[in-house]
Amino acid sequence: MSKTARAHTNIALIKYWGKKDAKLRLPLMSSLSMTLDAFYSDTKISDSEEMAFKLNGQTVSGPAADRVFSYLRAMQDRFGVKGELAVESINQVPTAAGLASSSSAFAAMAAAFADHYQLDLDRRELSRMARMGSGSASRSVFGGFSVWQKGDSDETSYAYPLDEKPEMDLRLLAVEINDQQKKISSTKGMEMSKSSPFYQLWLDRNDEELAEMEDAVKRGDFTKLGSLAELNASEMHALTFTARPGFSYFEPNTIKAIKLVQDLRQQGLECYYTIDAGPNVKVLCQRKNSKDIVNSFESSFDRVKIIEAGFGPGVTLLD
Ligand code: PMV
Repeated sequence: MSKTARAHTNIALIKYWGKKDAKLRLPLMSSLSMTLDAFYSDTKISDSEEMAFKLNGQTVSGPAADRVFSYLRAMQDRFGVKGELAVESINQVPTAAGLASSSSAFAAMAAAFADHYQLDLDRRELSRMARMGSGSASRSVFGGFSVWQKGDSDETSYAYPLDEKPEMDLRLLAVEINDQQKKISSTKGMEMSKSSPFYQLWLDRNDEELAEMEDAVKRGDFTKLGSLAELNASEMHALTFTARPGFSYFEPNTIKAIKLVQDLRQQGLECYYTIDAGPNVKVLCQRKNSKDIVNSFESSFDRVKIIEAGFGPGVTLLD
C-alpha cells in the first residue's frame, strides 16, 4: 500500500527567475526560501487501469492533468519502472493565500512516486526529481530555510537544507489582493524578462545576494533578511516592467500594499514585502508585530484576506 506524501509550500527570499534549460528546469541563478507551515499538499499514488489525476476530490483533465502525466512518464523512464497510475492530491493551499501550489504539489508528487515504487532515494535525489516538475518544488523537500543551488546539470542542480529548525522570529503574512489565476505563467514571464536591459545585472548580483541572505539567516538578522528579500523581489519585478514588451504582475492594490508596508516601517512597525509571479503581497515580520500589521491591512483594504504562516517542515510520508 502506498503512503500519502505531504510537502509544504515555500516562499523564495532570493528568487529563481530564469531558466537555463527549460526541459531539465535548470535555473540561471541559485535561490533561497522559507518553507511555510500553513500551506501543504498531500499526494498518494496507486496502481490503476489508466493514468488518472484527482485534485481535491475532483477528476482533472486537460493541460493540468497532462503536465502531471508527462511528469510521471518522465520519472518512470528515469527509474526504469512502468504502469498506469492514479494520483490523488489534496491541496491545503487556500486560494486566499495567493501562493502558488506547484512547489508543494511537485515535492509531494516526487515523494509519493518514490514511495509507490519503493525507490530508495535520499532527499537530494528527491529534490532533483521535484525540480523536474516545478523548479520551486526542489526547495520544498526541506523544511525551514533551504537553498537551491543552480548547478549546471541534472545531477548538480538540487536544493539542500540551510537550517531546518530555525530559531529566528520570522512570520509571513500572505495578503490576498486577487484570487484570479495569473495571466502570464512563471515560465513565460521568466522568458520575457530576459529581454530586460537589466537582466545581466540580475544574474551578476545573484552570488552576492545569496551570500548576504545566507549570512542574515545564519545570524538570525531579521532586518537584513527582510530588506534583502524586499530588494530581491523588487529587482525581479523591475525586470518585468523593463522587458520588451513590458508587462507586470502587479494590480493597483499591489502598489497600495507596497506603500502600506513602507509607511508601517516608517511608523516603527518593521516589515518587508516580497511578491511572486502574481499580484499578491507577502509581508515578512516578527511575531510581536504581526497583529498590528494585520489590523493595518484590514483597515486600509476593503475585503482583504490574510493568512499568517511560520516555518514548515520538509516532505514526509504520513502513516
Ligand atoms: O518553479 P515555479 O514555476 O513555481 O516558479 C517560481 C517563481 C517564483 O515563485 C517567482 C520564484 C521562486 O523562486 O519561487
